[in-house]
Amino acid sequence: MKFDFQASSTPIPSENVIAALQDANIPDLETASIRRLSGLINKIESLSGEKFIRMEMGVPGISAPKVGIQAEIEALKSGVASHYPPLTGIPSLKTEIARFVKSFLNVDVNSEYCYPTVGSAQGAMATFMVANRIRPEGATLFIDPGFPNQKAQVTALGQSWDSFDVYNYRGEVLRNILEEKLSTGQYTTLLYSNPNNPAWICFNDNELKIIAEVAENYDVIIVEDLAYLGMDYRSDYSVPNQAPFQPTVAKYAKDYILLISSSKVFSYAGQRIGSLIISEHLAQREFVTLQPTLGYSRFEHAMVFGGFHPLSSGVTHSVQYGLAAMMKAVNDGENPFLKDTQVYQKRAAEMKRLFTEHGFYIVYDKDIDKPIGDGFYFTFAYPGLSSGELLETLLYFGISAISLMNTGSERNEGLRACVSQVHESQFPLLEERIKAFSALMGE
Ligand SMILES: Cc1ncc(COP(=O)(O)O)c(C=O)c1O
Repeated sequence: MKFDFQASSTPIPSENVIAALQDANIPDLETASIRRLSGLINKIESLSGEKFIRMEMGVPGISAPKVGIQAEIEALKSGVASHYPPLTGIPSLKTEIARFVKSFLNVDVNSEYCYPTVGSAQGAMATFMVANRIRPEGATLFIDPGFPNQKAQVTALGQSWDSFDVYNYRGEVLRNILEEKLSTGQYTTLLYSNPNNPAWICFNDNELKIIAEVAENYDVIIVEDLAYLGMDYRSDYSVPNQAPFQPTVAKYAKDYILLISSSKVFSYAGQRIGSLIISEHLAQREFVTLQPTLGYSRFEHAMVFGGFHPLSSGVTHSVQYGLAAMMKAVNDGENPFLKDTQVYQKRAAEMKRLFTEHGFYIVYDKDIDKPIGDGFYFTFAYPGLSSGELLETLLYFGISAISLMNTGSERNEGLRACVSQVHESQFPLLEERIKAFSALMGE
């Protein structure tokens, strides 16, 4: 490490940081999982008695909508707890998911192929289990930087994956790298998140069209992860059935799966429910390679009986009522959910200002030719420091984040900050700590 923290006075006493680091025994901070880093920060907080500015974990920072909670309570009182939920989802939820897709994406989908999943995480797992078996040895291509858990899922299934950092492939050149990778024939799925965790990159319609065209050429199923649907606040996507709409590949592709997490858009992470939508064309396709392990060759049946059933035999009954009620409220225009989450935009703008005014820079700073939007995450770095050095140094200043090295980024100097847990009242403290950091760096 570059600095002798023991010789300097830092907001968090160096002996506490050093003791916690030794105790945690994390071989490499750059590649440590988010949960391990969180444990480390908890330890430093308890040793020092000082609260961190916590930017490491992507958890919602606002309360769950009352309408969802109330509907869950009513469902439980009515006795659903003793009944198995339908594997494909309760009818009212299926209808509301299809309405939601129409209201905010302006795409018509068949409610029959709209399913609840145990968080989007389970939706991704079921997708890999099934979609990577449409041909033998099927693999996933991830457009990175991305969400590490999905790669862990593919690996846990014994499947293979590859990825590329999209930083140098925005716009028309995206076609070149997709052609290069998908033409190998080894991929059966292509996954990206839009808006992107961690870089907050948002693909435009031209890029989504390119993705659709190249994937169709090589018969690759597109998995569009919409965990942050509508949260690119540079456009107002909050009004149902009114343009502009969240851009989506569903406008251009035939074979796609949409994953819509409820964790961030509805601040419902604890209840573990998400929505998975299969395009009608894909749902009705037959793949003989699915039959031996999943029992069915028709894609929709392989997903339901070969994926959802073995994974969890359905989604908690009451929470399906909760999500149906929340979706109905937003589809009816009664709950401006994207206005609630807009608090993250203001926070990100202010936090980015504080960092960049004191010598830091934003790593993924552009959407082709426009400045990147302000939202749930941003990426930042400090000249001359690797991400591991920056991560470790910031511990002495009571600021936590994760390394982009964990996300498939080639920008190994960067960190990801999540703004959700940082309250506006902490901004003066954040500024004080950032100033102390840059003063030390300038020494
Ligand atoms: C890009 C992305 N996809 C999926 C998820 C998982 O969502 P869920 O909580 O619904 O499983 C997350 C959560 O952080 C995410 O960032």
